[in-house]
Amino acid sequence: MKILVTGGAGFIGSNFIHYLFKKHSDYEIINLDSLTYCGNLENLKTIEDNPNYEFIKGDICDSGLVDQVVKDVDAIVHFAAESHVDRSILNATPFVRTNVLGTTNLLDAAQKHKKRFHYISTDEVFGSLGSQGYFKENSHYDPHSPYSASKAAGDHLVRAYFHTHRLPITITNCSNNYGPYQFPEKLIPLFVTNLLEKKKVPLYGEGLNVRDWLYVEDHCQAIDLVLHQGKIGETYCVGGNEEKTNLEITHKILEILGLGTEMIERVPDRKGHDQRYAIDASKIKKELGWEPEHKFEEALLKTVKWYQNNEEWWQRIKNKEYLNYYQKQYQEKK
Ligand code: NAD
Ligand code: TYD
Repeated sequence: MKILVTGGAGFIGSNFIHYLFKKHSDYEIINLDSLTYCGNLENLKTIEDNPNYEFIKGDICDSGLVDQVVKDVDAIVHFAAESHVDRSILNATPFVRTNVLGTTNLLDAAQKHKKRFHYISTDEVFGSLGSQGYFKENSHYDPHSPYSASKAAGDHLVRAYFHTHRLPITITNCSNNYGPYQFPEKLIPLFVTNLLEKKKVPLYGEGLNVRDWLYVEDHCQAIDLVLHQGKIGETYCVGGNEEKTNLEITHKILEILGLGTEMIERVPDRKGHDQRYAIDASKIKKELGWEPEHKFEEALLKTVKWYQNNEEWWQRIKNKEYLNYYQKQYQEKK
């Protein structure tokens, strides 16, 4: 099978490519990635000489290129996106460009060449939960940030191509991922790498917002299952069933690194900060037999160790561009 992975130089995409080669060593993989600030070919160093792997530097908004690449593959697994909520608050335009127009471009090519299409989406399209309840496949759409609104537009377009053109699609909406190769602007890698540098960690507001944490390898396994066994036209919610407040996560990381709470710096809350995300993953469990294999405590420990052992990887990133836009603005305001 020949698979086009878009955004394969990013966090989840690169983990997925490693996963695919481990699981299906005979597969051919093309990685189409424009290498934005968070695309990093170092994530794929160990497989770059694999004859079954090809990297193409290119933009999913480039319709000529996308058409050419899509023509020769059996399936598309679409990860490429602008993915960081804080950046979308400062400038929504790149989010609309890549997440909406880029996705439409891929759908057009998939439709023209009649290819299998899997779209990686997020639980954030469903908005925010109170203290009760879970997101499910039939939860109503209520995206709150420009990021989640652009991802929701992607979900709707993907389904529209199924209904209108009978394009063989599936969608997964997953919760917050963590693990190796995550760009250190997201909560866990930012906090771990800051602490390894003996810098404080910027906790938004009271730190009581809840996310449902999913180890990236468990997510990759779910995508692989849906790609091969998912029912065409269907959506599957994928979550780790590991709800934690940001404060709990911060305390756990501090404990692993033997540091105290004086390393926490309370900073103003994110604008429109969603309170809680939590997924009911019973559909993918029941229909496809998926189960997350990693428990949060041990997978967090493994993740922290990975950042400890791969300091060169994140130092290079942080030296190039360390402060995320939101923090930078906050510090400029101070
Ligand atoms: P990431 O930001 O680490 O990587 C995104 C990749 O897409 C990068 O390699 C980047 O260079 C590439 N890219 C961006 N714009 C592009 C364009 N126009 N053309 C080609 N390539 C482009 O993101 P991630 O965390 O790996 O997320 C992957 C997907 O999973 C995204 O669609 C995201 O919305 C979704 N998702 C992520 C999470 C999470 O916790 N990280 C949770 C739910 C859903
Ligand atoms: P993030 O990793 O950006 O993922 P998302 O917003 O897509 O869920 O943030 C996870 C949680 O951590 C979210 O509630 C915001 C919070 N957070 C902080 O408290 N400080 C930070 O510096 C960052 C990046 C996030």
